[in-house]
Amino acid sequence: MKLDHVIESQQFTLPLLVELFDRTRQMERVVARGGTRDYAGRIMASLFYEPSTRTRFSFEAAVYRLGGRVLSTEHARVFSSEIEGEQLEDTIRIISTYADAIVLRHTEEGGARRAARVATVPVLNAGDGGGGQHPTQALLDLYTIYRERHALDGLTIAIVGDLDGGRTARSLAYLLSKFERVKIHFVSPPEVQMRQDILDHLDEHDVWYDLRSDVESIAGEVDVIYQTRIRPDRVADRAALGRYTIDARLLHRMKPDAMVLHPLPRTVEIDKDVDEDPRALYFKQAANGLFVRMALLTMVWDRE
Ligand code: CP
Repeated sequence: MKLDHVIESQQFTLPLLVELFDRTRQMERVVARGGTRDYAGRIMASLFYEPSTRTRFSFEAAVYRLGGRVLSTEHARVFSSEIEGEQLEDTIRIISTYADAIVLRHTEEGGARRAARVATVPVLNAGDGGGGQHPTQALLDLYTIYRERHALDGLTIAIVGDLDGGRTARSLAYLLSKFERVKIHFVSPPEVQMRQDILDHLDEHDVWYDLRSDVESIAGEVDVIYQTRIRPDRVADRAALGRYTIDARLLHRMKPDAMVLHPLPRTVEIDKDVDEDPRALYFKQAANGLFVRMALLTMVWDRE
């Protein structure tokens, strides 16, 4: 199984996911014993044109835990030659000669694909554009569900928030379409509902879904609520945003073994009171990002 680049969720077949999750479990053990030197000499470039806490730090920590090193820029829009008008393709060609992998977060949908076309080392998409993808986030989301539930077939999930601009939600929907008997409730204000390309993909793969605008009506039936942010400037009825918040009252309606996930960062869409509930797994989910990203780096490097 070949993994040249990580650009979009669709490229992950079930056998690839099995291998990724096996390696991720192994990476949990590697980190527990303080890391490895197996990838000493490897250099990963992290090139972020947008802010990030989790994705950048976890990828950089992943390389250090594998024994490698990092080339990084604080803010590529300012501290790279893009500010002089350099095209992404030229930047990627150059960095390919300095590093063994490039982790790229770009402002444009399709930025990672453009980079992969000219790169001579693996490119890992750390988020591209408002309606693009964030496949490594979705992989760690899926891993978190699998780790807790030990199965993905038969999952009922509510994906909540700004789904039109939600690249993590888009990537997760693609991954979920690979499993049997999955039910997806897309919950959002009407003007930011899930885009048609994802709905068409789910139709093609016979995945059950519906579109709705309140989370309360399905809170009691879902195994997972995958919450995401809604920026108030993206919706007409700001007063209605409370309808999408997870708080203690909503939690009370959820199943005792359900999970609340969020790619983070959060603002007000999950009440702080929820954090202490054992079903609130978003911090554990973010921690899993380290293991999944270590596993992904080993997969692209072992195949060279
Ligand atoms: N989930 C996520 O992508 O977080 P960051 O923006 O902090 O990387």
